[in-house]
Amino acid sequence: MDCNLRRQGVRLAFGCAWSTLMAMAAFGQTPSTMSMDDKAVERRVNALLGQMTLEEKIGQLSQVFVFAPSKQVDEQVAKGQLGSLLFVTDPARINSLQRLAVEKSRLHIPLIFGFDVIHGFRTIFPVPIAMAASWDPSMVSGAQAIAAKEASSVGINWSFAPMVDIARDPRWGRIVEGAGEDPWLGSAMAAAQVRGFQGESIGSPDHVLACMKHYAGYGAAEGGRDYDASNIPEALLQNVYLRPFHAAVKAGIGSAMSAYMDLNDVPATGNRWLLHDVLHDDWRFQGFVVSDANAVKSLATHGFARDLSDAAVRALNAGVDMEMAIGTTAYSQNLAAALSSGKITLQRIEDADRAIIGMKVRLGLFEHPYIDEARAARILASPEHRTASRLAAERSAVLLRNEGNLLPLRKSGYSKIAVVGPLADSQVDTLGSWAFQDDVTETVTVLAGLRNKVGSQAQVMFVPGVEISRKFPSPFDQIFGSKPRTPWTPEQAKAELKKAVDLAGSSDLTILVLGEAQDMSGEAASRESLALPGEEEQLLEAVAATGKPMVLVLLNGRPLDIRWASQNIPAILEAWYPGTQGGNAIANLLFGEAVPGGKLPVTWPRNANQTPIYYAHNTTQSPENQGRRYWDEESTPLYPFGYGLSYSTFSFSDLQVSQAQFKIGQTVEVTAEVENTGASTADEVPQIYIHQQYGSASRPVRELRGFERITLAAHEKKTIRFRLGSDELSYWSAAKKAWVEEPARLDVWVGADSKASLHGSFTITE
Ligand code: NOJ
Repeated sequence: MDCNLRRQGVRLAFGCAWSTLMAMAAFGQTPSTMSMDDKAVERRVNALLGQMTLEEKIGQLSQVFVFAPSKQVDEQVAKGQLGSLLFVTDPARINSLQRLAVEKSRLHIPLIFGFDVIHGFRTIFPVPIAMAASWDPSMVSGAQAIAAKEASSVGINWSFAPMVDIARDPRWGRIVEGAGEDPWLGSAMAAAQVRGFQGESIGSPDHVLACMKHYAGYGAAEGGRDYDASNIPEALLQNVYLRPFHAAVKAGIGSAMSAYMDLNDVPATGNRWLLHDVLHDDWRFQGFVVSDANAVKSLATHGFARDLSDAAVRALNAGVDMEMAIGTTAYSQNLAAALSSGKITLQRIEDADRAIIGMKVRLGLFEHPYIDEARAARILASPEHRTASRLAAERSAVLLRNEGNLLPLRKSGYSKIAVVGPLADSQVDTLGSWAFQDDVTETVTVLAGLRNKVGSQAQVMFVPGVEISRKFPSPFDQIFGSKPRTPWTPEQAKAELKKAVDLAGSSDLTILVLGEAQDMSGEAASRESLALPGEEEQLLEAVAATGKPMVLVLLNGRPLDIRWASQNIPAILEAWYPGTQGGNAIANLLFGEAVPGGKLPVTWPRNANQTPIYYAHNTTQSPENQGRRYWDEESTPLYPFGYGLSYSTFSFSDLQVSQAQFKIGQTVEVTAEVENTGASTADEVPQIYIHQQYGSASRPVRELRGFERITLAAHEKKTIRFRLGSDELSYWSAAKKAWVEEPARLDVWVGADSKASLHGSFTITE
C-alpha cells in the first residue's frame, strides 16, 4: 500500500501502519455484500409469519442469558420459543444451539446470538472513552471491525455496542463506555463504530449487527449514581443526549437498546415518545429495539407498570420489540393473555417479528447459520489484531503534563528504573471493564512493556506500594464468580509503602502507575469521589518526596482528582485502560517511539464536587464573575475538554471566514494555518468551536463543530478547512419546538482545545 507519506516519518509509523493493518486484518479479501432488497426480505418474512403459531411469534421476541449449558434453554430453542440468546461465546456450543434452532424447530428460524463486544473480543482494545480520546474515527472504526471479525468468527452475530450515552458527570461509572461529554465528538464516534461493527451494510461478511445503547438519557443519572433517574429538558435531550443516537441511525444501525432508568418520570423502556415518535417517526429507524437486561420486568419496580403482565404490555406497545431477560421473559409469560384480553394487537406482535426476523434474513443467518470452529481459532490468534490494539492504545493516550520535557525518556539515560503502583503489573486492570473473552495471560502490563522496551539497558524493579480494595462487594461478583481481594494487614501496608519509597530512592527514574482497578469503572461502578483510590495519593506524595525524576501513568475509566500531581509530578500520561497491548503502547509512548496525540473527550474536573462539569455550558453571569462560583475552589476545570499535549508544539494562525455575512441555509468555510513548531513529527487535532451570540434561546459559550487529527512533520504547515452549514449551525429551540437556524452573529474559534483563542466571527441573515 502506498501511503504517499514517505516523507513524513511518523505517518509511516502510525497512520500508514494503522491503515495497512486495517486492510489486512479487517477489510482485506472479504468483499462486502450488497444490501438486501427490502421487498425480498419482506416477502420472506411474511411467508414465515403466515406459518407461525402465536407461541412461535412471541418466542422470536424473547432473548435470555445463557451463562452455562441448560437443558431448559435447549428445549425452548427446539420448540421455537426463543429468538435470541446472549452470553454464549463458545463456538461449538453456538453451533450446537444453532443446530437445534435450524434443524429441530418447526420453521427452522435461526437464533441471533448477542454479546457485549464493547472494546474487543479476544483482542482487547482501549476502553471506549480512550478510543474517543484518539479523536480518530477511522481508527475507532477499524478497531470495532476487528472486534466484529473476532466475535463473528465464533458465531456472535450481534454486539451490544456502541454505547453512545453522553456523560457529563464522571462519578457515573459508565462514562468509561462512551465517548465522553460532547454530542459532536460522540456522534462521530457513534457513526464510526456502526461502520466498524456492521461493515458496508448489514450482513457484510466478518461483521455483526450493532446496537446503540442505552436509549436514551442514561448518562444523566442523578448524582452520577448508576441506574438512577434522569431529568433532561427536551432542548437538552435533542441538542445533546439524543444526537449521537441520531448519528448512529443515520449511519444505518440495525438495533437499539432501551435504557433502564426513568426519563422525566417515564421509564425509557416504556417510553413511547422515545421509542416510537422520535426513533421511528422522526428518524425513520429501520431496525428493532431490544430492552436492556430485565428492563421490561423492572417497569413494575419503577412503580410504572402494575405487574409483570402490565410491564410486558407497556413495553411492547411503547416499541420494545425484543425483551432481554435473565431466566424467563415477561413477554413469553404474558403476551398471549394480553392479546386475548385486547391489551395488545396481533399486528404489533407481527411488526416486532418482522423487524427481528427481517434482520436475521439480512444478516444471512438463514443461508449461513453455522461457523467454522477451526477458522475461528485462527482469527482469534491473529497477531495483526494485537498490533492494531497497540496502535490504538498509542493513539488514545493523552499527555497531561510534561514539565521540562522530561518525556520522551532516553533509553540509555537510566540504569535503574523503579516501577511503582498497584496497577503496574496487573493484567486484569490493564484491560478495563467489559473484557470477558480475552486470554488475560497475554495482556502486556506496564511493567512488562517497560521491560520489553529497555531490555538489558536498565534494571527495571517493581513494587506495588499500596493495594486497592473495595469497600462493598460488586453486584457482579456473584454472576461472574469473582472474589474480593484479601486486604493487606496494617503492618503489611506500612512495609509495602516503605519498600516503594526505598526503591524509588535508590533508582534514577520512577514510573508510578496509579488509577482505578478494573471493576471501579463500568456498570454499577459509580463513585462519590474522584480521589485516587485507597492509599494511592499517599504513595504518590511519599515517592515524589524522594526528589527523583518521576512520571505518572494513569490507568482509569474517568477523570480523577490529580490536583496535587498536576502541580508536583513533572510528567503525567493518561493511558486509560489501554487493552491487551497496553504495556507495550505505554513504553513506546514514554520512550518516544510513539508521540502522544490524544485529546480529552471530557472536561477534567479538579474534584468530584465540581461535577457535573462540561465546557459547553451557557453564560448566565458576566464573564468577570464567571470564574468564581465557589468560595473554596476554582470553578474552572483542571484540564479543559479537547486538551492534550505532544512532544512537539503547534501554533494556529490566520483564521479566515469565507463570507462575513450569509443567508440561512448557506455554508461558510473557515480556514486556519496549523504549524508544527517543534523539531519532531507529531499529531495535532485542530478543533473548531462556535457560539451563537443571541437568538430564541441562550446558547452554550462554545460548541465543537468539527475536528481532524492530522500528522505534521517538524516545521510543516498546513491549511485546515472546516465547513459550517445547517447541520453545524442549527439547534433545537425549546421556544419554537423545532430545529432552527437563526439570523444571528456567531463567534468561531479554531485551535488545539476548547480554550482556543484564535477567533473570527460571521453573521447569518434571513
Ligand atoms: C446490562 C447493561 O446495561 C447493558 O449495557 C448490557 O448490554 C446488557 N446488560 C447485556 O449484558
